[in-house]
Amino acid sequence: MDELQRFLKFLEFIGYDEVKVDRGVTMVKNRKESNPIEELEKLKEEVLKCCKCRLCKTRTNVVFGEGDLTTNLMFVGEAPGEQEDLQGRPFVGRAGQLLTRFLNLYGVSRDKVYITNIVKCRPPNNRNPAPDEIQACYPYLEKQIEFIKPKVILCLGAFAARTILNLPEKTSISKIRGKEQKLGNVIVIPTFHPAYLLRNRKGEPEFQKDLELALRLAGFIK
Ligand code: URA
Ligand code: SF4
Repeated sequence: MDELQRFLKFLEFIGYDEVKVDRGVTMVKNRKESNPIEELEKLKEEVLKCCKCRLCKTRTNVVFGEGDLTTNLMFVGEAPGEQEDLQGRPFVGRAGQLLTRFLNLYGVSRDKVYITNIVKCRPPNNRNPAPDEIQACYPYLEKQIEFIKPKVILCLGAFAARTILNLPEKTSISKIRGKEQKLGNVIVIPTFHPAYLLRNRKGEPEFQKDLELALRLAGFIK
């Protein structure tokens, strides 16, 4: 017993947090190993207080992002709109409802994916985010990608695609949509923004094709 206690203390000393004995199997968890869920929670707390760019002065709520932290599929939009700013949640306005409907069409509910934006605070009157705002905010998305480790990122609209893939400012979304790209180990697929579809219904078949590709590569559909 003494020896066991000393061994447990030794384990604790070198960084093991818990030792569980379950039907003869000893399982140990190392507290020094970073836990992505905790890291993401810490990051969220930091971002909710962020004032690294001018958008913090006009926002109502920071929209950090939400969804399944263990998902294979991440959606990245541009910036929060009015509803998102009021509720502190991404894609909950009309464009978001359209996105949710498209997901449901494939039997996938919103909470099985992760949804966020390039910029976490609403630009006044929904203007485009400025380059310095994107630059200030982008490191948060990089950390979200690092912690969540999605297999696939579907970029919703030109801003997301250009920023994530580091493409020239004028790159047209219709030229790059639907083409798989790589960001490290992550497959990145640019597509139309759902807000664009609200104005241009004829873009829907292409959007659906890109969404299907993303869902397939992420293992949601065959
Ligand atoms: N448009 C976006 O790009 N993001 C949202 O969260 C809502 C609308
Ligand atoms: Fe901070 Fe991003 Fe909000 Fe700017 S947009 S204040 S960088 S969280």
